[in-house]
Formats: sequence, structure tokens, C-alpha cells
Amino acid sequence: MQTPTLIAPSLLAADFAHLGRDVEMLNQSAADWLHIDVMDGVFVPNISFGLPVMQAIAKVAQKPLDVHLMIVEPEKYVPAFIELGAQVVSVHYEACPHLHRNLQQIKALGAKAGVAINPHTSVELLEDVLSDIDVVCLMSVNPGFGGQKFIERTYERVRKLKALINKHQTQTLIEIDGGVNAHNAPLLVQAGADVLVAGSFVFSSANPSQTIAALKG
Ligand code: DX5
Ligand code: ZN
Repeated sequence: MQTPTLIAPSLLAADFAHLGRDVEMLNQSAADWLHIDVMDGVFVPNISFGLPVMQAIAKVAQKPLDVHLMIVEPEKYVPAFIELGAQVVSVHYEACPHLHRNLQQIKALGAKAGVAINPHTSVELLEDVLSDIDVVCLMSVNPGFGGQKFIERTYERVRKLKALINKHQTQTLIEIDGGVNAHNAPLLVQAGADVLVAGSFVFSSANPSQTIAALKG
């Protein structure tokens, strides 16, 4: 039997003036994880929010916090995010010349270790560290902004990554991030995705809670 798909709404699309209200809505919803997008204006051409906002979210959130670090030198901030309650921390392959060390750091501090990869980065590049990765966050848009168009090539990338996971028999989860909606969600799950991040599709819908439940399938 297939394990149920996890839904991780992205707070990047929340109403920052009413963040507590939106986190409460997610607490009451079928959401499994809360996805937190941290951008530094260096690795990606945008700045989102950092530790103080993470701390405010963590105070209200009742679900695991899935922190996506779109920052250079993530090792400098990983301990602080985990201290504040991050249960999954993803660093970018493209920002980590010593990725294996980054993964060990995250795990030693008690969180699940994730690696996010940009749309141009081949999934095969992860093969030699796959057994150390709890979650691969496959970017289905270029990181930096919510509300972008889903890159169709992603399905093929999910299938390739799933084959690698099966070959090495690891427990690695496949998370998809960017442009997820009701149309592509079932196709992504069919291709092998385990976790779906959704920002604008959830928060711009008339009933976000219902949209989350519908995405779960
Ligand atoms: C993009 C972020 C995504 C973003 C997804 O850089 O990593 O998590 O919030 O937003 P949507 O679902 O609007 O593409
Ligand atoms: Zn993200």
C-alpha cells in the first residue's frame, strides 16, 4: 500500500500581517508539515524572512516545521533554526561545496536532513550521498519566488530520482516545491513524490483548508 502524500503549505504565500491567524488555520487543517522559505538575497534574488519570523511561527505551529534554506553558507544558521524547532532542514546542493558535512551537521543536531536541488541540477549528482538524505526537495521552479509556473520536466526528474532511491533502498522522501496545484499533484504522486509543497495555490484559494485536504488526494 502506498503511504499517504504529505502536504506542506508554504508560508511564503501567507498574509504576513496575519501570520498567527494563518498558522492557526494550518494547525486545524490536513497539512502535514509547514514549509518555511528562508531567502538571503545572495543565493536567490529575493529576501524573505529569517530567525525572528521563524521563532514567531514556531510559537504557534503545532505541525513539523520544514525549513528550506535558500542561503549561502547554511551551516552558519542551521543550529539556530533547529534550536527554534525545525524538524526538517533542507540546504541547497548548489550552495554546499561540502554537502556531506552539511547533512551530518543537520542530523547530529537531531533534525531530518534535506537537500534541495535547482531545476538544472541532475538528480544523479545525489547518488553517492542518497543514503544520508532524508528528504530531497526537487525544485519545480527556480527558487526565489512563489507563484511561478510549474516546470513540466519535473515528472521525469521525479521518476529518475525514485529509481535511484529504489536501487539503493533508502528511505529518502521526494518533496516537490514550486507551482504545485490540483492538476499536477496527482501526476507528481503517480511519478513517485511523497511530499507536496504548495504556496499560492493554497493561500489564493477561497478555502485554503479545503484546498489542502483536496491536494492530499
Ligand atoms: C520558491 C519556494 C517555494 C514557494 C512555493 O523559492 O521555495 O516554497 O513558496 O510557492 P508556490 O507554490 O506559489 O510556487
Ligand atoms: Zn520552498
